[in-house]
Amino acid sequence: MKKTVDVIQSMKRNGQKIAMLTAYDYPTARILNDADIDIILVGDSLGMVVLGYEDTRSVTMADMIHHTRIVARANTTCLLVADLPHQAYETAEQAVKNARALCDVGADTVKFEGNKPEIVTALVDASIPVMGHVGLLPQTSEKFRVHGRKRSEALLIADDAKALEAAGCFATVLESIPEKLGGKITKSLQIPTIGIGAGPDCDGQVLVLHDILGLFDRSPTFVKQYANMRKEIHRAVTHYKLDVQQGRFPDDGHSYH
Ligand code: KIV
Repeated sequence: MKKTVDVIQSMKRNGQKIAMLTAYDYPTARILNDADIDIILVGDSLGMVVLGYEDTRSVTMADMIHHTRIVARANTTCLLVADLPHQAYETAEQAVKNARALCDVGADTVKFEGNKPEIVTALVDASIPVMGHVGLLPQTSEKFRVHGRKRSEALLIADDAKALEAAGCFATVLESIPEKLGGKITKSLQIPTIGIGAGPDCDGQVLVLHDILGLFDRSPTFVKQYANMRKEIHRAVTHYKLDVQQGRFPDDGHSYH
């Protein structure tokens, strides 16, 4: 059965941790689906880990629609969240139009960065569930650093999260903040918090798939790498090249007779 926003929210009430990962293509989305991951995020991290850009700012609505459609084709069980990319939610009207376009190709909900309650209200009024994102905001932050170490900054982040909840977000991402602040915000909200570099006390965790698989060489320090696929793929293609060069492939078992 496909997970819904209600299921994700009930996980917080029942003390069950929420596991969220990014996916951008069909084969990895199928693996996440089969592993019963709770939430798949078609994140605009797509820009760096798949499209080869320096940051997320070059990602377009066309990119997001293309990759959301592909992931949706593979997904039958996870809640599917798609990012609204940079400059795709400058006004409430634009946000609703772009969010509808992502839902039309299979997203269940959308996520955007920052404290913009008027955008949340417009999306909720249009029956589009929305996930917030506070702390480090990759689309606009000048520096990729821990946010909220200073008391004044921590208070602002906590207020942002509260405002997003009040406006109607069903959950929010907390990115790159001290673990104490992650725990404090989590306790203060009814909606689930999904941490990325926000410590163990969040209601769930999200990481970029290419980071945990070792497919990206600029991962932040909070990432735990669970495999070294870069090394494994390099080993496989080098082996293949040698087999071709030395006439070992194709052999009898891989030829038609
Ligand atoms: O785009 C993305 O992968 C994200 C995560 C960092 C939460 O927004």
